[in-house]
Amino acid sequence: MPDLNAVAQALVAEGKGILAADESTPTIKKRFDSISIESTVANRRAYRELLFRTPGVADFISGVILFDETLRQEAADGTPFAKVLEDLGVIPGIKVDKGAKPLAGAPGEKITEGLDGLRERLREYHDLGARFTKWRAVITIASGDGLPTPNCIDANAEALARYAALSQEAGLVPIVEPEILMDGDHTIQQCLDVSEATLQSVFGALSRRHVVLEDMLLKPNMVISGASCPRQADVETVAAMTVRCLRRRVPAAVPGIVFLSGGQSNEKATAHLNAMNRPPAAVNPWQLSFSYGRALQEPPLSAWRGETANVEKAQGAFHHRARLNGAARYGKYSDAMEKQLIGTA
Ligand code: 13P
Repeated sequence: MPDLNAVAQALVAEGKGILAADESTPTIKKRFDSISIESTVANRRAYRELLFRTPGVADFISGVILFDETLRQEAADGTPFAKVLEDLGVIPGIKVDKGAKPLAGAPGEKITEGLDGLRERLREYHDLGARFTKWRAVITIASGDGLPTPNCIDANAEALARYAALSQEAGLVPIVEPEILMDGDHTIQQCLDVSEATLQSVFGALSRRHVVLEDMLLKPNMVISGASCPRQADVETVAAMTVRCLRRRVPAAVPGIVFLSGGQSNEKATAHLNAMNRPPAAVNPWQLSFSYGRALQEPPLSAWRGETANVEKAQGAFHHRARLNGAARYGKYSDAMEKQLIGTA
């Protein structure tokens, strides 16, 4: 049996975090639409190769979450992407859920699907070179409508736990991602309450399904004000309330917590992580790291614009963002660093 704890530890190695590049076909189309690029197989491959082959980025990126298509794809020189990453010392992972669908009998709420046939898919993903997996559950706060309901939280927690147990059975480290969406005008206190209730339900289900906590990672939202809340909590408050929530609800056996960016600006996503890790931050039992999608990819995507001539510039922008988040792992990120875009070498 592979040493899953060693893989989990490597994913949260000092100064490094995870790149989430597992956008489904509809989601990557949305990202490409924003730069007026057609979402073809060839363009998706070129873009992802640009990211993975950014010189020096493995200094800050421990693992990459891929989408099914990418794990089966090869770089332009014929090397499978999983091998490209492995050769750089970066661990390939795979999104295994089939997306969030309306939850029956629960208006406005969603359940993540994909458990049917998962055991067989996991075996195949392992054979293709994946060493960890991700499953994302989505929780909406809309207090006027009484959301989220315990029904939605518990149904998603159960699915996360069944997914995680299957992943570990297949020799893959599960990244358990219960995301409380930022959308809405809820306060940071409401986000704290819902985050706590969700994590409590998730860890209850993980325990009932015999998931080994040492062999998984948690990918939560930060505790943050709703995007349209008139009172936006500052960086220090977000950091303090996020850590408070996690200390109350995440067992010490979990090796690491890798946040999603969730629609925060690139700078905020880095600043929040930095504030949580800045000395003399409380000594926490788990590593606090990142698994960002948009907050790592927005700069390279807009620099690239689908042009081969822009690849180097896009790689520079990606390297810069990865380096800043790497610094935030030690609490060493600063405004001054933000401004100095250095080369890719
Ligand atoms: P964002 O960082 O863009 O929220 O994406 C992370 C992710 O993997 C969502 O499932």
